[in-house]
Amino acid sequence: MSGAAPLVLVARELRPLLEGEPEWPRGAGTRWISREEPFPADDRVVALVPLLSREIGPVELDRLPALEVVANYAVGHDNIDLGAAAERGVTVTNTPDVLTEATADLTWALLLAAARRLREGLDLAASGRWPGWAPDQLLGMGLRGRTLGILGAGRIGTAVARRAPPFGLELAYWSRSSSPEIEALGGRRVGALEELLQRCEVVSVHLSLTEETRGLLGSEELSRVADGSILVNTARGEIVDPGALARALREGPLAAAGLDVYPDEPEIPPALRELPNAFVLPHVGSATWQARRDMWRVASENVRRVLAGREPLTPVPPTTGERRDPADPGPR
Ligand code: GLV
Ligand code: GLV
Repeated sequence: MSGAAPLVLVARELRPLLEGEPEWPRGAGTRWISREEPFPADDRVVALVPLLSREIGPVELDRLPALEVVANYAVGHDNIDLGAAAERGVTVTNTPDVLTEATADLTWALLLAAARRLREGLDLAASGRWPGWAPDQLLGMGLRGRTLGILGAGRIGTAVARRAPPFGLELAYWSRSSSPEIEALGGRRVGALEELLQRCEVVSVHLSLTEETRGLLGSEELSRVADGSILVNTARGEIVDPGALARALREGPLAAAGLDVYPDEPEIPPALRELPNAFVLPHVGSATWQARRDMWRVASENVRRVLAGREPLTPVPPTTGERRDPADPGPR
């Protein structure tokens, strides 16, 4: 390593959220990097705060030989090669908890928009050609008495489930481990994905993206969902095959979808953009001032702790690639 002062490399897009210049231990300075810039090679960089759109693999890590920590500005960390980071002794952290409620609210916004055909309603209202109130106009799905199926009972899935009882929705969930909280809300754990898809009129995806969940909902699965049901995805676009989803929306069995995430962002598959029964948003799950500021607070505190030789607040376990449950002390 050169004798120059250490640097923390931070996504430039975060700057508007910050009050003043960030301060770091060991007299480290800040180097800003924008989304468009090629990834730098710099042996002074000891910490990196990337956006989720920045892929961090062996090539990027080898350009920063003094790197100690990648503090991802996201709860998901599928943009980071955890194995490559672990091999190089680089700690990885994320921003769980602080965006849970914001993302759960947005999930409900999509769920309601899909159930009540808000896109078609908006289009009709904006068209200037609304013929007037009619008994059979834009009829959607009533939620009371239906079942909401949660795929992935982590923090966000649980927060989404917590909002279901006031709407009169029953709950079912499919998850790696059982969720006492969802069960306390009356939710039943379903052993087979297929059973959940067939039983639930509304299915909401809250899994992290891993090799097991990539493409989990393909044409086979989407052809077997309950007739007239709704799919919501605020997790990761790669979990649902977009072509199969478009087909299931066009030809059935899906009645509608609420989507916030796509496999090749910022591209939103045209078929999904154009379908009147797809309510599509541009990945704004955690987009509240509070959540985005708190995400910076957590990410920057993770950097400060690692640079000061302390444990970070929210480490991502290096071996499994799975998020740490709050009840789980983690690997170290
Ligand atoms: C957003 O998608 C996140 O992972 O924080
Ligand atoms: C995110 O924090 C999740 O575990 O769902």
